Amino acid sequence: MALVAAGIPVVLVDESRTQLDGRLATIRKTWESHAARGRIAPEDVEARMALITPTLELADVGDVDLVIEAVFEQMAVKKQVFAKLDAHARPGAVLATNTSTLDVDEIATATSRPESVIGLHFFSPAHVMRLLEVVRGEKTSEEVVATAMALAKRIRKVPVLVGVCDGFVGNRIILVREAEALRLLLEGATPQQVDAVLRDFGFPMGSFEMQDMSGGIELLYRLRQETGAKEPIADRLGERGRFGVKAGKGFYRYEPGDRTPHHDPEVDAIIEEAAEAAGVTRSAVRDAELADRLLYPMVNEGAKILEEGIALRASDIDVVYVYGYGWPIDKGGPMYWADQVGLGKIRDRLRELAAAHGPAFAPAPLLERLADDDGRFTNGSGA
Ligand SMILES: NC(=O)c1ccc[n+]([C@@H]2O[C@H](COP(=O)([O-])OP(=O)(O)OC[C@H]3O[C@@H](n4cnc5c(N)ncnc54)[C@H](O)[C@@H]3O)[C@@H](O)[C@H]2O)c1
Repeated sequence: MALVAAGIPVVLVDESRTQLDGRLATIRKTWESHAARGRIAPEDVEARMALITPTLELADVGDVDLVIEAVFEQMAVKKQVFAKLDAHARPGAVLATNTSTLDVDEIATATSRPESVIGLHFFSPAHVMRLLEVVRGEKTSEEVVATAMALAKRIRKVPVLVGVCDGFVGNRIILVREAEALRLLLEGATPQQVDAVLRDFGFPMGSFEMQDMSGGIELLYRLRQETGAKEPIADRLGERGRFGVKAGKGFYRYEPGDRTPHHDPEVDAIIEEAAEAAGVTRSAVRDAELADRLLYPMVNEGAKILEEGIALRASDIDVVYVYGYGWPIDKGGPMYWADQVGLGKIRDRLRELAAAHGPAFAPAPLLERLADDDGRFTNGSGA
């Protein structure tokens, strides 16, 4: 939809007829509603639909300049698809993956042309959200990176070039926050309290509201099942099919057809049960403590990302957060915000939290160095 809206013809491939028809119907419905609200001209609906060539055959990508793969999030499936793309796509075509969590370099090994492979990580819903993480693989050519950045601008996205790591920039940082949010529930906070603290800070929604909305509960639950990792509260939600808004229940409960989160005593019981099983005695956590424990680790993870060269500059991380994750724009993004708070203050608080709650809070070496030198992330010294 993002490409077609910019006038670029698209071949839409799915292996399932039902899925393909369903997707086409959704696309049409969305644009019809845009037309009904005057956002596009009525004749644009048909003009746009005419730019889409639906097919069940991957071989039909033979003529395209760019492929954006968005099949199931499983490495084996991605590799199968990329091996087929290698066989069918013309030489020089850009082969992009929309993966959120998988290793782009490993995907590229399924082809004979890793220099053509790149990540184009759109954010959901992709025709609305403006952020695009452009993921440069180890072997991605400069031409392919430049093409991806230029394409992003043509389709009115805001591209940020990032390197390969678990979760890239955006999800890597958000996962640190979500993991801490869950630990806070175990210790005594409630989903409502955590979400209120984040909304007070300026996020449009809190951690648990966002997980309910995004489908993150199910994705992470399935990933943990594959890796054998455990999360006492989120696993219990998964076992009970509490996958968020679409299931009518997640960290909150939802009335049919309504996305308003309602407090659910069943979730309180799940949290109590998980805490008991983990041997944790729950007690109230202050709001100020919650804010520090949710926000400072995001800054710290950003510092690690910078030091590893996964992001090129602090302001790129800020762009990811403002455009992709609802970081309040008046606070400029996590790295800019950290500069305003003062890196010394954040470093000292992280040291305290590490002493109290474990080494996950230990300040990143870059944060330590900048704090020692009275430095900043966003004046170039952190870049
Ligand atoms: N849903 C999101 O919010 C989101 C956001 C960013 C990135 N992503 C990424 O996008 C990708 C797709 O996610 P999704 O949520 O849209 O999944 P989905 O399960 O809704 O859709 C996947 C589609 O791929 C089709 N498919 C599967 N195997 C295929 C094959 N071999 N050939 C052709 N078509 C095939 C399926 O029929 C299905 O229609 C994943 O890599 C995911 O990580 C998703």
